[in-house]
Amino acid sequence: MSASAQPLLSVRNLHIRFATQDRGETVKAVDGISFDVMPGETFGIIGESGSGKTTLGRALVSLLPPTEGSILQDGIDPSTLKPSALRQHRRNYQIIFQDPHAALNPRQRVLASVCEPLEIAGGLDRATREQRGLDALARVGIAPEYAQRYPHMLSGGQKQRINIARVLTLRPKLIVCDEVVAALDVSIRGDVLNLFAELQREFGLTYVFITHDLSVVAHVSDRIAVTYLGRLMELGPTLAVGERPLHPYTEALMSADPLPLPSHLRTQRRIVLQGEIPSPIDPPSGCRFRTRCPSAQPRCAAEPPDWRELRPAHWVACHFATPDGPPSRAPQPLPTHPTV
Ligand SMILES: Nc1ncnc2c1ncn2[C@@H]1O[C@H](COP(=O)(O)OP(=O)(O)O)[C@@H](O)[C@H]1O
Ligand code: SF4
Ligand SMILES: [Mg+2]
Repeated sequence: MSASAQPLLSVRNLHIRFATQDRGETVKAVDGISFDVMPGETFGIIGESGSGKTTLGRALVSLLPPTEGSILQDGIDPSTLKPSALRQHRRNYQIIFQDPHAALNPRQRVLASVCEPLEIAGGLDRATREQRGLDALARVGIAPEYAQRYPHMLSGGQKQRINIARVLTLRPKLIVCDEVVAALDVSIRGDVLNLFAELQREFGLTYVFITHDLSVVAHVSDRIAVTYLGRLMELGPTLAVGERPLHPYTEALMSADPLPLPSHLRTQRRIVLQGEIPSPIDPPSGCRFRTRCPSAQPRCAAEPPDWRELRPAHWVACHFATPDGPPSRAPQPLPTHPTV
């Protein structure tokens, strides 16, 4: 990855809103996010359920249009392309979802499923498509005898490998991996993550790795972005974010589920976040995290924090964070003891 390379993804002030069907309300699933992803890197996105990660991932591969803001893919705004150019362009940006079963048609044999995206993309005859499908299956470790089987005859791990093969046939530049090992048995997660790493080296792939599992993101990512309620809270190199987070939210996430770091770098205190993530229909004013932040001050309700680079390439959205770390927590009330 060269510092001067053009970003493969350039996301600017991205907003994605959904209208709710019943009450005419607006869900602000992604609410003003900007970042770049460089060619060849693995960009991790972490955050609790409901923070907008899947919506963001779908937008990155043009499955959802921005409501506001922009996403450039290799410098190109896909909404400006004519249909035939768009079809060729889009095959470079693929996504793999959490549920390996849902992505495969139960009535379609494995090889037909793997070749389907190539068929849709057009331009290759059937024999070439099938050869490419068989090559992709071999590359993800699926033996040729599985090619004519149906999905119900396969394990979850095999199905996820087949989903990877499906995407590989298109020879994409970027794959968004949305919780891709979350549904798999813990014993095979490492193998599937290693497969992703090997394929990245072999095909020069760029990944956006979305997960709520910090051990997964630490295993694979060069940088980590921390999302909360449709915004970025922190962004930096994986080790820096894991060892010395700047945002109180990241600090709480890391303390609950520490990255697999050497023990002297791990934080000893467990910070338990109070309450649930608020609704993206009516997010808190100022700093989104203020209703659960142990360091919140009156200013946090009045003003959204600026996005500040407090350490080299390490950014945070918190009024009171310093290069030394998050603001100190407000003193906890002393336990009250009954008087005797
Ligand atoms: N199609 C949709 N219509 C309405 N609300 C949606 C839609 N998709 C997602 N949301 C809402 O947007 C918010 C973010 O969801 P999502 O992107 O799935 O978050 P995450 O992947 O981090 O769990 C949630 O409150 C979710 O209910
Ligand atoms: S801006 Fe305020 S509420 Fe938000 S994280 Fe910083 S201290 Fe907490
Ligand atoms: Mg999700």
